[in-house]
Amino acid sequence: MPSPELTGYGTPPAPISGDRAVVDRLTEISDEDLNALCEAADAAIIDGGGFGWVTPPGRLAMESYFRGVLLVPERELFVCRLDGVIVGSAQLVRPPRNNEAQAFAATLMHAFVAPYARSHGLARMLTRRVEESARAQGYQVLNLDVRETQSAAIRLYESLGYECWGIHPAYARVAGATIRGFHFYKLLKPLPRRDGRR
Ligand SMILES: CC(C)(COP(=O)(O)OP(=O)(O)OC[C@H]1O[C@@H](n2cnc3c(N)ncnc32)[C@H](O)[C@@H]1OP(=O)(O)O)[C@@H](O)C(=O)NCCC(=O)NCCS
Repeated sequence: MPSPELTGYGTPPAPISGDRAVVDRLTEISDEDLNALCEAADAAIIDGGGFGWVTPPGRLAMESYFRGVLLVPERELFVCRLDGVIVGSAQLVRPPRNNEAQAFAATLMHAFVAPYARSHGLARMLTRRVEESARAQGYQVLNLDVRETQSAAIRLYESLGYECWGIHPAYARVAGATIRGFHFYKLLKPLPRRDGRR
């Protein structure tokens, strides 16, 4: 369970020192971490945005989902913690091995921070950590997409140097309304020129 100070919706964010906020990559998950991760995801979905779900799918489905993510070879699961408690996550998704033409590009997906832990800089830390991992593996481009309604995310990614290259007019459907999607990319390393020279 998040500590009481994390649940104060509407109160001004307290400054968070570096040792209280941490980002980890998970390769396995304890029951305690899984519980906190599911709780954070449920809260983000109820608040209006959470990796495709519009309503929480239920605890069993959510637990299976995150356990499944850890088994997918192309996925890396990153979590952010506040005072040790998981309050958000993001995934780095590598291209499938048959996609040779796009082998230089990875995707950042399913990022969220629980409403009770927002505005402390955790999403910025999480995004930078995902970028570091992608860069360290040699990826040159990081792609991501968001619903047009996710204005905090749009500001976050723009502030971190992501370029919006296109708008999908029929990206998602929420409460019967079709909404647009904004597609972003960021160059993690300079690309070779078209003629192959650096
Ligand atoms: C987007 C989200 C991850 C931001 O999490 P967060 O931890 O509160 O973000 P941070 O505190 O790291 O803020 C980093 C930057 O994001 C932007 N931002 C964050 N919250 C914002 C808000 N409410 N309004 C406008 N911009 C906001 C700002 O540019 C901010 O930088 P600043 O503090 O220097 O102004 C969170 O609001 C969320 O989970 N939203 C729902 C899910 C979602 O949209 N996921 C993204 C794509 S799937």
